[in-house]
Order: sequence, then C-alpha cells, then structure tokens
Amino acid sequence: MSNSVISRKLYHRPVMLKETLEEIALVPTSGWIVDGTFGDGGHSSAIYEQRIVNFGANKLVSIDWDLSGYEAFKTHSKVIPTLLDESQSESTWILVNDNFSHLQKIVSELKRKTSHGTGIAAVLLDLGISSRQLVQKERGFSFTGTGRADMRMNPEMYAIAAYDLLNLLPYTKLTQLFKETVGMPGPVAARLTRELLAAREEKPFGNTRDVKRLNDIAYKVEPIRSNSRGRIHPATLLFLALRIAVNTELQNLQEVLPVAFANLVTGGRLLVMTYHSAEEEVVAQFSQLVRTKAEIIMPSPREIRSNPRARSAKLFVIKK
Ligand SMILES: C[S@@+](CC[C@H](N)C(=O)[O-])C[C@H]1O[C@@H](n2cnc3c(N)ncnc32)[C@H](O)[C@@H]1O
Repeated sequence: MSNSVISRKLYHRPVMLKETLEEIALVPTSGWIVDGTFGDGGHSSAIYEQRIVNFGANKLVSIDWDLSGYEAFKTHSKVIPTLLDESQSESTWILVNDNFSHLQKIVSELKRKTSHGTGIAAVLLDLGISSRQLVQKERGFSFTGTGRADMRMNPEMYAIAAYDLLNLLPYTKLTQLFKETVGMPGPVAARLTRELLAAREEKPFGNTRDVKRLNDIAYKVEPIRSNSRGRIHPATLLFLALRIAVNTELQNLQEVLPVAFANLVTGGRLLVMTYHSAEEEVVAQFSQLVRTKAEIIMPSPREIRSNPRARSAKLFVIKK
C-alpha cells in the first residue's frame, strides 16, 4: 500500500477494512462493485485500488446521500470518482449522490451512461453515520455537542427533522419508537416520553439548545445504563432512535437488500456492516427470506481496542 494512489488522510477510519477487502477479492472479476455508503471514501478507495492492482475488470460505483465526505476526499486524494452526471462511458469509478434504496434506478442510469452492463459483483453497505458527520455539531447527530436536533443526513431529501418529530409525535408514537426501534425498556421509554412532552410544552424544540436539553432529559430519566456491549451513555438510544426515524434508515435497508441481491451475479456477495440490533434484525430476516445463511464476521479485539466505532460492528456476508 505504500505506493498507494489513494490518500490515506481519512477522517473516518473504515471498520473491518481488511475483512471487507478479503471478501471483495473473492467476487467475480467483472461487473459492478457497489459501495452504497461512500462516507469518507475509506472502503471505496481501498476497493478501487485493490481491483486496479489485481487487474480485475470490475467497475466501482460509490453512493452517498451526503457528499460532505466526498468534498473532503477530493482535496486530499490523487484519484477521485467521477460524478454520475459527468461520467463518460469508460469511467471506472463513479459517484452517485442518492439514497442507496434507489439502487434499481441507479443501475438503470449506469446502464444508460456507461458501456459496462448491469451485473453487480458485490454490494457493500457500511451502515449508519460517519465520524465526520458525527463531529459536525450543528447537524445535531452527537449528544456531546451543541446544536439543533436536525439529524437529517440530506436535508434536501428529507423534509422532517428530528426536532419536528420531537414537537409533533404523540406519546404513543414516541414510546413505540424508543421501545421497538432501539429496544429501550418500556418504563424507561415511557418516562423519557413524558419528559420530552413536558419539555416541548414549555418550549418547542428546534433551536441550538436542543442537544443540551435532550442530554439533560436523558440523564434525568436514566443516569447510567449498561448492556451486553458495555456501559452506554443515557442519551445514546434517544439520539439513535431519532436519527433512524428521521432518515427512515430501516426502511432504506429493507428496500435495498432485495434489489441488491436480485442484481447480483452468481458468485456475487452482499456485504452489510451493521452497528445495532435493529439493523442486524433486518439483515438476518432478509437472509432467511432468500434462504441463504449469512456468514457473520466480527472485528478483531485489536481493531476494537484501536477504533471504538468497531465495537458494535458485525459484517454480514450473503453469497449468491
Ligand atoms: C459508516 S459511514 C461509511 C463510511 C465509509 N465506509 C468509509 O470508509 O468512509 C456511512 C455513510 O453512509 C451514508 N448513508 C447512510 N445511509 C445511506 C443511504 N440510505 N443512502 C446513501 N448513503 C447513506 C452516510 O451518509 C455515511 O456517509
């Protein structure tokens, strides 16, 4: 990797990179490799490099609905993907600014714009949020910051922000979100919802004090919590539930999996990196549906020690 054409100056450290590359190395050497979650380009750039080095005939398409990682990637990398609109028929690495749940439309566009056909050799989905998005405090993803609870990964694609949900959802919908989506115990979800309703009654959410207010409420409801993965900050589940709901994350995943699998060529692989049990459940249910047992790869203890993001990661591999 020392002669790498790709910069390694990435803000977000890609999780299970070695394991992902090992899986990608096994897929057929023609057809598209789809990275549905470009982020800071860590996985994409390494995949691009690997296939170039191996003289594969694969082409890479990277998708992200938030181009903040791409904008940064452009400034420090020698090789960058071409935006789909600007791509030429021979482009070998294309970037699409879209929701990965629109994969079927994206595949049709690729067919129209390029000469590479539509077969897909691999699809990678490294779900959730990148470290870069998390530190953009004004976007409200992180409970450690200040800012408005917006949490939209792409405000042009989603009209409803987290503060809208906090202001508008009735008691039953909020408790349901906390219990069913992120597995909050019933009494905690009920207490939390009562506190949120009282807070919005006093003053609606939707300004830069949101994150601080949500933190205070979470602490009031439950000072400390732990689960099988260790101690977790009391605001973790509240923020996670809101982010998942605002960006319809589970629906997106449910929509993309059958499309991705249907477009895979024989021997192709679907690689899904999950970070919480709701995502795991969607992938496990899908693998049952297509009667293919998913292999699950876990990060090494060493990676977990050096990259806290890897702590809850699981890489599901579904082969076709
Ligand atoms: C965990 S990060 C991916 C990091 C990336 N693998 C890397 O190495 O830099 C997740 C990325 O996926 C994007 N994302 C999440 N859901 C998406 C969706 N439904 N459509 C498109 N992009 C999505 C997020 O905007 C974020 O940039």
